[in-house]
Amino acid sequence: MEQKKRILTGDRTTGRLHLGHYVGSLQSRVALQNDYDTFILLADIQALTTHFEKPELIHDSIYQVAIDNLSVGLDPEKVTILQQSQITAIAELTEFYSLLVSVNTLRHNPTIKTEAKAYGYDDLSFGFLGYPVSQSADITFCKADLVPVGEDQLPHMELTRKIVRRFNELYGASLPEPQAMLSKCSRLVGLDGNAKMGKSLGNALYLSDDAATVEAKVKRALTDTTRISVKDPGHPDVCVVSKYHEIFNPTEHANICEMCKSASIGCVACKKQLAAVLNGLLDPFREKRAYYESHLGEVRDIIMAGSAKANLIGNETMREVKEAMHIAL
Ligand code: TRP
Repeated sequence: MEQKKRILTGDRTTGRLHLGHYVGSLQSRVALQNDYDTFILLADIQALTTHFEKPELIHDSIYQVAIDNLSVGLDPEKVTILQQSQITAIAELTEFYSLLVSVNTLRHNPTIKTEAKAYGYDDLSFGFLGYPVSQSADITFCKADLVPVGEDQLPHMELTRKIVRRFNELYGASLPEPQAMLSKCSRLVGLDGNAKMGKSLGNALYLSDDAATVEAKVKRALTDTTRISVKDPGHPDVCVVSKYHEIFNPTEHANICEMCKSASIGCVACKKQLAAVLNGLLDPFREKRAYYESHLGEVRDIIMAGSAKANLIGNETMREVKEAMHIAL
């Protein structure tokens, strides 16, 4: 039998995951888990680069992000869920790779720039500036072939490939060059009309939100601001609720747009429909989540076992890497 290709992807453990993560990445992880050897990284070290003053939040989020992944249907029997800080090869590779990357390259990384601005950093910490190098270690310690990510991660993928090529060239090693796998919908607009749904933006629908919260949030979502009365024809092309129907309720979307344009459906009814569709999607996730929430020991065991397995693979990679670098005695 041909060996399955390996996927590695991950989430920063800085809070719970939301619908943007779901359409951007989680959904495709579930679809791919049967055909690929899938590794899901709980990126707690990367979380610390921006949230080092909030260790309790990170501790809690390690569990919550693991549960987010499990709740949408990732099967712990099939996928490997691992905790970044437990994997010694990641720390070691980060150190070796850091020699091959210039500070200026990192300073010019567009994602680093955007994030530094968003966090209000002007004098970047060594660790924050270097997290893309650590991400390269995340991807290569297990020799991942494919990395499902959103668009914002492409600069990090480019860097990873560059590091791998340089490393192989310098030391005659043969680490595989990983490929990015872009999701169809790599960005979900926020409920407030912001281009992106984000934890820190206060415009997110969480996978862990209950039905009433989803209804309340959808009720407040931005619609066509020129539509004052139900009798006014609406403009679905500028309406956030319409965009959500398009993604989460595709079979009804065209119909709803027509009704909106002809003023035969009002925003209240349209939002009610959307909330019902979203709750229909989230209900089975809530059921799984409730199970894991009451079996945290099991979640811990899943993470520990996944990390142990990842360490065996990582130690093997480090043996090869150190040999190639002529530092193995
Ligand atoms: N930087 C990614 C994000 O913000 C998270 C991440 C960490 C990751 N390590 C990774 C993604 C390795 C893919 C592969 O979403």
